Amino acid sequence: MDIKIDNKICKVEYGEYLLQVARRNNIYIPTLCHSDALPGQASCRICIVEVIENDSSKVVTSCVYPITKEIEVITNSEKINNMRRTLLMLLSMRVPNHEALSRLMVKYSVPAINRFGIDMNEKCILCGLCVKACEEVGQYAISTVNRGITKKVSTPYQEPSVSCIGCGACASVCPTGAIDIFEKESKRFIWNKTFELMQCTRCEEYFITKEQLDYMNERLGYETEVLLCEKCKKNVVSESFKNIVQNL
Ligand code: SF4
Ligand code: FES
Repeated sequence: MDIKIDNKICKVEYGEYLLQVARRNNIYIPTLCHSDALPGQASCRICIVEVIENDSSKVVTSCVYPITKEIEVITNSEKINNMRRTLLMLLSMRVPNHEALSRLMVKYSVPAINRFGIDMNEKCILCGLCVKACEEVGQYAISTVNRGITKKVSTPYQEPSVSCIGCGACASVCPTGAIDIFEKESKRFIWNKTFELMQCTRCEEYFITKEQLDYMNERLGYETEVLLCEKCKKNVVSESFKNIVQNL
């Protein structure tokens, strides 16, 4: 099936998300909370576009809008740009110092906000990606707590969570770098918890928490004797490939 995005004809599979189609066709739609790995959050709404069908138009959230019929899409109408401006202004009142957000504010000519009373260190846009990542891992160690302006992501009662295995999946998906994670020597610190790190058997770099390893072993049903970091895993694969090719 064909749809038209900003006057460009684009081929579409039934049910594909609009954002996905636009990206494949190099049509720019801004996003903040979208992650290809964890799609479906739809919390920032910056990716809104106008869909025209049967001579009427509606505003839809492109990252979660499945295409089921031939439509026409406008990604940057005056109406959409005005709505994006308002959304950006509201977001910047929560997260005043975020690089991608500031770039979008310049792009959409959002006037500078009055910074009085705003926490200049706040980085979280409350997209929920970290919570979803933790759920996908199967740990449920963090969630959004409180309501209104006090809403935030936290461990239960802001205490170190017994379920947290220190894998850092939450921090790796966070689009704004809002989750504090750091490593020093053989330790990793995240969510008010300190984890001992295990070394790669090959390069001896510390890279995985003991809790994460135990969790993986439990899921695999056996214990791995050789513990390889991602870099060494890749090296081992490419070395074996070279050996195979040389021996052909
Ligand atoms: S900490 Fe990051 S990933 Fe989690 S809700 Fe906030 S911005 Fe989103
Ligand atoms: S990117 Fe679609 S709602 Fe955030």
